[in-house]
Amino acid sequence: MSTTNAPRIAVVGSLNMDLVLQVQHAPGPGETVLADALHLVSGGKGGNQAVACARQGAQVALFGRLGNDGYGHTLRAGLDADGIDHRGVQTDAETTTGVAAITVEATGQNRIVVVPGANGRFVLDPVALGAALEGAGGLVVQLETPMPQVVAAAQQAHAAGCPVVLNPSPIQPLPDALWPLVHTLVVNEVEAAALAGVAVATPQDAAAAAQALRGRGPAQVVVTLGAAGAVAADAAGCRYHPGLAVQAVDTTAAGDTFLGALAVALARGEPLDAGVREGIRASALCVTQPGAQPSIPTRAAVAQSPQPPAWSPL
Ligand code: RIB
Repeated sequence: MSTTNAPRIAVVGSLNMDLVLQVQHAPGPGETVLADALHLVSGGKGGNQAVACARQGAQVALFGRLGNDGYGHTLRAGLDADGIDHRGVQTDAETTTGVAAITVEATGQNRIVVVPGANGRFVLDPVALGAALEGAGGLVVQLETPMPQVVAAAQQAHAAGCPVVLNPSPIQPLPDALWPLVHTLVVNEVEAAALAGVAVATPQDAAAAAQALRGRGPAQVVVTLGAAGAVAADAAGCRYHPGLAVQAVDTTAAGDTFLGALAVALARGEPLDAGVREGIRASALCVTQPGAQPSIPTRAAVAQSPQPPAWSPL
């Protein structure tokens, strides 16, 4: 939902149809398991983060690429339902919409394999992105679209004075040119460990990794720790934000939901710690519902949800 004085956010990213297999446990190497159910759910990190921003009250313009097929039409209809400007979502007549095969275990734990399809052929339209960046409070990017397009979008936003929020997922080495363009880096433990080259198991580990990553360029780094909460790092130091205890049924899109709530709070001019608390509240609601986009909460739902415990300095 958006209003005229809503913060504006541009998102460059992927759109996938998620084929969700509900299993008691994910198969190990060489193992076959029976699924309890198969669900088709709208997903993709770019689409999810766009939906998360829109449901937190931002006016969102999304840039991505779909196939000219049933999955693509369904995903586009979903963007319409959330009031997202999808004129920047291209239609590719020569390949299929991206698909993610996701197993979700009884514990809520997921495993995801993505077939990029049209996402892999996304080409940035700098004129259209330039229009969306005018007066925008943030550009949100992830790594399911080609890296050169991500870098080009970040360069354009940086040059326009629009803060870049990067979620480097799926994790891969980041080009040197990208680091100084990023204002806010949002990573989970695995991504933080891979980028910083250190093990991340505790909030103290996450703080050390976050400070190392800040040294590469981002002014702010947030390391999400799943149910344990998150660590926020900026020029003032590092803070540990405890998580909220909830019964998780599906963790898919929890990170996307966290990022959307954080990005919108920052675009509204709220401090980093307030944004991290919004992210924790929103993602705690997300994991209590199955699927990606259907599980992303609205601003009203987040406003009615419990507050996380107070943060503490690290
Ligand atoms: O972050 C969750 C998303 O990752 C899923 O919706 C899936 O499509 C993959 O992109």
